[in-house]
Amino acid sequence: MATKPLVPSASALRWLGVIAAPTALALGFLWTGGWLTPHRLTQTSLLDALHAVDGTHPGFRRNHAKGVCVTGWFEGNGNAAGISTASVLQPGRVPVVGRFALAGGMPFQADAPAKVRSLALRLKPADSQEWRMGMNDIPVFPVRTPQEFQDLQQASRPDPATGKPDPARVKAFRAAHPWLRAAGAQITHRPLSSGFSDDTYRSLNSFLFVSKDGAKAAVRWSMVPLQPVTLADGHADDHDYLFRQLIDDLHAHPLQWRLMVTLAGSGDAIDNPSEEWSRDNRQIDAGTLTLTDIESEENGPCTGITFDPLVLPQGMMPSGDPILQARSAAYMRSFYLRSGERPTVPAVSPEMTVPPANAKDKKS
Ligand code: HEM
Repeated sequence: MATKPLVPSASALRWLGVIAAPTALALGFLWTGGWLTPHRLTQTSLLDALHAVDGTHPGFRRNHAKGVCVTGWFEGNGNAAGISTASVLQPGRVPVVGRFALAGGMPFQADAPAKVRSLALRLKPADSQEWRMGMNDIPVFPVRTPQEFQDLQQASRPDPATGKPDPARVKAFRAAHPWLRAAGAQITHRPLSSGFSDDTYRSLNSFLFVSKDGAKAAVRWSMVPLQPVTLADGHADDHDYLFRQLIDDLHAHPLQWRLMVTLAGSGDAIDNPSEEWSRDNRQIDAGTLTLTDIESEENGPCTGITFDPLVLPQGMMPSGDPILQARSAAYMRSFYLRSGERPTVPAVSPEMTVPPANAKDKKS
């Protein structure tokens, strides 16, 4: 009896060809979306972890959701030009769009002294070599890696029965990460300034500054207020007191900060934002930030910007800090989602930011 050859027929091969391409494409989409590997760290899994803690608020940032836009300028003094060729650090004035915010995904949360405050900035010089940054007012970041960030969010998600984090889950996270204890203590016991205007904001992540001859220096930076610092002593019984105070301050006079660039010493951890650097490192006063105007996020100039820390000018580079890449990916995803959604009126509404009729002309 004649046997059939074990070669697939031409029509079977044709069908395989037709099915293989879409199947591979579908698997690719599922992989990218994290459906095949639910425990993999992705843009989506990071945002899901934030969502589990704070819920979803369409049209708002998935973190640092309660905020307000500010504008002004940065004036470089050239002191840092020896370690970075970035045009923003040369002597001269560069326009700035910024945003003050409270950490957390709840756009209508109540202000309170110990909530983490932030300042994000976009410095845009004439040559378009722009520098975006997002800084927090804590001394160190609570975790070292994106995985730890995601695990911390998951451990802090509210228990549906109590509406509060499950203490056993938080305790288990702490017990499994003893190396984060020091960072947690530094954050909890930090001195608290009275408001946004007299606060210090820090990059927390490290970056590389690149000089004209290609030498790379690891740095962190902070914005240190020129306004006198007053320590927080309780707070007014006002849901938005921090923002209201900032609005009043900016309507009264410009607010200023000094950009202090800190160079890493030999023992300092470049890739670990939960570790503080030595206190006797060399610091460079690189220029002054002046903020003059404030607007609600509703149609404000900061709403259409995501302060992705990897938007860096020539003369600056990301360091090996793994949090930076995760931030960039998560910010882009948050920006993409919120851009397609219709927000409600933000807590800091346009009415709150209208200057009083007697506001001085502060521009100089
Ligand atoms: C893996 C860690 C992190 C994740 C997943 C994360 C996630 C996010 C997301 C999704 C946003 C909203 C972005 C937008 O819609 O435009 C955001 C905002 C922000 N983040 Fe992070 N973040 C991380 C770490 C950090 C660190 C280390 C800092 C250090 C200072 C930081 C500072 C800020 C600031 C200042 C904002 C507000 C920016 C603004 O006002 O628009 N984040 N974060």
